[in-house]
Amino acid sequence: MKQSEYLNVLKLAKRSLEDYKNWGEDEVYKAALQPSSSQKQSAPVQTSDKSSSAQKLEALKTKTSKCRKCPLGASRLNCVFGVGSATADLMFVGEGPGFDEDHKGEPFIGRAGQLLTKIIEAMGYSRDSVYIANIVKCHPMKDPSDPEKRGNDRPPTPEEMDACRPYLDMQLEIIQPKIIVTLGASSTKGLLKSDESISAIRGTVHEYNGIKLMPTYHPAALLRNPDLKKDVWNDMKKVMNFLKTGKI
Ligand code: SF4
Ligand code: URA
Repeated sequence: MKQSEYLNVLKLAKRSLEDYKNWGEDEVYKAALQPSSSQKQSAPVQTSDKSSSAQKLEALKTKTSKCRKCPLGASRLNCVFGVGSATADLMFVGEGPGFDEDHKGEPFIGRAGQLLTKIIEAMGYSRDSVYIANIVKCHPMKDPSDPEKRGNDRPPTPEEMDACRPYLDMQLEIIQPKIIVTLGASSTKGLLKSDESISAIRGTVHEYNGIKLMPTYHPAALLRNPDLKKDVWNDMKKVMNFLKTGKI
């Protein structure tokens, strides 16, 4: 391992150890001490592939920002396309932008988003090295006439998810992640068309468009019920192991 890679691993381990205090699982501590060979940060990346994927994503983002294919397009403040690496192995798909995300145009930046960032870092990644998106790109509101009202979020409808899915499909085609983690019932049901409850389906391996898919709880559910953290961490260990060994 080169010295710079070694320092990077140490930096990640240190950050994960700090996260351990907040995230609070023994496994996080252990994981932090085992640098994963699968991590994109230390893998050689072909610059041309990387930049062309980034360019394609940027072009798709511009197109999506003008979309009015479903009613959410009329009330959104910003289209929340997604963030992260255009060549990420690991992609998270949430439910939809909330108040904070609609205002800033970036996914998962509110309280639930901050917890997601901690989970990602505990896995040995950074927000920049994975990709984070939602199953709908515009803010689903209970009262679409007032985007300035807090507590106005709602889950997307199946029709809204179907209308928006082509954008997610194109993101997947460009990024080609090895595994998708769906966060919560909306994105899990929206992609898998399953009637199973999130508590039954989480932790089990599926496929979407030929890509492995692992459903887990939404970080907002963990804020309401911290006991669920253990389940999410078990699911993420399977994901980490898959990224390391190719087996799940
Ligand atoms: Fe278009 Fe998706 Fe926004 Fe609906 S939610 S307007 S389909 S980008
Ligand atoms: N919840 C989500 O599902 N997505 C976000 O971007 C923010 C909160």
